[in-house]
Amino acid sequence: MIPQSFIQDLLNRVDIVDVVERYVPLKRAGANHVACCPFHTEKSPSFTVSQTKQFYHCFGCGAHGTAIGFLIEYSGVGFIDAVKDLAQSAGMQVPETRSEQPRHKTEEGEDLHEVMLKAAQYYRQQLKSTPRAVEYLKKRGLSGEVAKEFGVGYAPAAWQNLSAAFPDYNAKALVATGLVIQGDEGKRYDRFRDRIMFPIVDTRGHIIGFGGRVLDQGEPKYLNSPETTLFEKGRELYGLYQGRRAIRDAGCVIVVEGYMDVVALAQHGVGYAVATLGTATTPTHVQKLLRQTEEVVFCFDGDNAGRRAAWRALENSLEQLVDGKQLSFLFLPQGEDPDSYVRQFGKEAFEKMLREAKPLSQFLLDELKSQVDMQTPEGRAKLLQEAAPRIKLVAAPILSLMLRKQLAQIAGISQQELDAQFQIKSVAPPVAPPRKSPPVRNSLVRKLIELVLLHPEFAGDVDPAILHAAGDTVAEAADLKTLAALLDAAAAEPGVIHWPEYFRDTEHASLLLQIEPALLKRQDMDWSLEELRAEFRDGWQQLGRRIDLEMQAENIKQHGFTGSNLERLRITKGVTGPK
Ligand code: UTP
Ligand code: MN
Repeated sequence: MIPQSFIQDLLNRVDIVDVVERYVPLKRAGANHVACCPFHTEKSPSFTVSQTKQFYHCFGCGAHGTAIGFLIEYSGVGFIDAVKDLAQSAGMQVPETRSEQPRHKTEEGEDLHEVMLKAAQYYRQQLKSTPRAVEYLKKRGLSGEVAKEFGVGYAPAAWQNLSAAFPDYNAKALVATGLVIQGDEGKRYDRFRDRIMFPIVDTRGHIIGFGGRVLDQGEPKYLNSPETTLFEKGRELYGLYQGRRAIRDAGCVIVVEGYMDVVALAQHGVGYAVATLGTATTPTHVQKLLRQTEEVVFCFDGDNAGRRAAWRALENSLEQLVDGKQLSFLFLPQGEDPDSYVRQFGKEAFEKMLREAKPLSQFLLDELKSQVDMQTPEGRAKLLQEAAPRIKLVAAPILSLMLRKQLAQIAGISQQELDAQFQIKSVAPPVAPPRKSPPVRNSLVRKLIELVLLHPEFAGDVDPAILHAAGDTVAEAADLKTLAALLDAAAAEPGVIHWPEYFRDTEHASLLLQIEPALLKRQDMDWSLEELRAEFRDGWQQLGRRIDLEMQAENIKQHGFTGSNLERLRITKGVTGPK
């Protein structure tokens, strides 16, 4: 559980306008920002973002939420990941709670991140005192500066080097990080020996693994850290942390196959490359990259293995595609990898090639076409059959439409015929999802809630005791409870920016969410604070009188008692009580 106070802090620090703009260009419209809704197809913008209240709302499809909610909806991450992502962009550390063991701590409390950092420092220091290793890196064209940026080091040849860096070579953490191997008969030894060491860094800058390359010939050429609690290969990309600024500036990221490719590209001024870690590109990789940038270029060797790897990357990307973002594929000339290419031909030549990369749609259709005989109806039928399951994975509506149009054309049928074959119903833009909530009945209670959401400081003007006393028999009892809870919390918690989030997982959340869109209309009306405050106070007194009457009636029914509650209905600040 992440404490609500942290969530509110976070929502205070990040700006939902910036967060949304990472994905959707916004236009100012009155007090708010608008765009065509990214969650349904529409021609005129009904997606609205309130900067002052830090939420978005689509008047078309009802999509609604905070910056956290937007990330969850838009990029499909979970709540925790969305919070972590935002916290990172705001330079905040998500607090750890005691209930869940943080993944980077052992049960004994050893910090695995610290262990990795210490090992990396040791390897770097060893590099400095090993001319043979320095020579190797120089031979590969690496400057001291770039080696430092990537934290490149050297693990000496002996079996227990790390005992020099860690006084307790038997510490559990050394095995838990994969740095040390526990052999039979209790003997331990370093995993990495006589290798150039490349630290693998997660997006928060923690070292979570290493790749170690032999200096000369030897097998395996690269040895990687095993998967540990810190390190999951299918999620991590080598160089993403170091390249984050260059990726943002370029608006593009290149995915290559090797450690040395990333480092050599950086050496030649192409800082926006990352590498998968000896695995195929996973959907998580693609999702992670598309969250950071507009364009992803996969760069593979021109040989058959490269084409196979590219095809797998394509298949793992289809579900992650987002309209407005571009994925493409670059195949290098036979026998070259990005490292050798950029060293030989330089940055300009490499970037020129990048610009000619094949868009995903073209690669997909070209590959499928190449597997069939396009001259025969049978061949074209096979093409459609092969394409169908893949195109169905594409959730991005516009891209899906484009792909179907192109495919239909290639196959010599109409798009309607193709959609019928694929059993795709939505030739017309998809109808808005049914989550649009019914219009809120504009009751007095709800109007008061709306005003407190707009100006939480109004809570300090009144005493909600009468609401607590009201019980379950009065009209709109549930809504009154929410108003009471909101008033209590608003008076006690000045730091809260988003109330529905504050009341997440409580009975109050859904009503608050229903009312929140009304704030957008309010913000566009130029009412002064005094006018709003007067509206709130009037409403409060009116509500109080109504409740009082209802309670009296109830008391008479039950006890024959007629005491009034009106004295509880006072404005506690500044003005006199009700007449
Ligand atoms: P390559 O064999 O293409 O090597 O492996 P490379 O990147 O060109 O390396 P250099 O230029 O000879 O130094 C590509 C990637 O595959 C993984 C590594 O991540 C490597 O960077 N790999 C390769 C391994 O994990 N283990 C290996 O034994 C070989
Ligand atoms: Mn290479």
